[in-house]
Amino acid sequence: MPPEEVLPGVYLLETDGQRKLATKSRDLEPVYGERMINGYRLWDPTRSKLAALLLKGGGKGLHLPRDAKVLYLGAATGTTVSHVSDIVADGLVYAVEFSPRAMRDLIRLCERRENIVPILADAARPEGYCVLVEPVDMVYQDIAQRNQVEIASLNSERYLKPGGVLILMMKTRSIDVTAAPDAVYNSEIKKLAGLSLSWSMDLLPYHMDHWAVLARKFDS
Ligand SMILES: C[S@@+](CC[C@H](N)C(=O)[O-])C[C@H]1O[C@@H](n2cnc3c(N)ncnc32)[C@H](O)[C@@H]1O
Repeated sequence: MPPEEVLPGVYLLETDGQRKLATKSRDLEPVYGERMINGYRLWDPTRSKLAALLLKGGGKGLHLPRDAKVLYLGAATGTTVSHVSDIVADGLVYAVEFSPRAMRDLIRLCERRENIVPILADAARPEGYCVLVEPVDMVYQDIAQRNQVEIASLNSERYLKPGGVLILMMKTRSIDVTAAPDAVYNSEIKKLAGLSLSWSMDLLPYHMDHWAVLARKFDS
């Protein structure tokens, strides 16, 4: 069966009797040990919250054209960044990460992929990368910090185009380890500034205590 394109640049492949998520890559070298099948890279939902979200049917409102620009906060070594880079093959991914150790691996990935701009910076201080980053179609954030909602709001205010989309992977245990995850989510989500919440969903069974949130920036 040919791969089914479920969103632009995102596919479901039939392999080993299962339907698996994948992106199509010009780079034929695996990034994190993932399996490659005829130019498609399998996308593991246990390794990537974005893959978990898409597999759970959370693609609504998430159409990323090939030439889109994405600001990715919390890039780590580039696992999910690499799949976003496949999806926006003619666009750009600004990949912000503050760990020098993770950045070393990310830079190695960028040597093979021209559409990723690695930025060693603290995402809580978005003014620090204003000379590098243009207005973007999507802000994607996966940062386990107490003030993760504030970080998402600050970056969206500064870099997201009006009408653009924020995907926030909220880890409730990083905000308050003692409170019930639902209660943390409900109080934190009210702090999103300048954005209208479209929907949210948990990432079970792939990731515990995580919520994926999609919000849209108000048109000015
Ligand atoms: C859960 S990992 C990200 C995994 C990655 N998004 C993926 O799916 O491949 C979170 C990353 O955020 C980074 N991080 C945490 N706080 C940050 C901050 N304030 N600025 C930039 N990066 C930060 C951490 O160093 C870590 O690499």
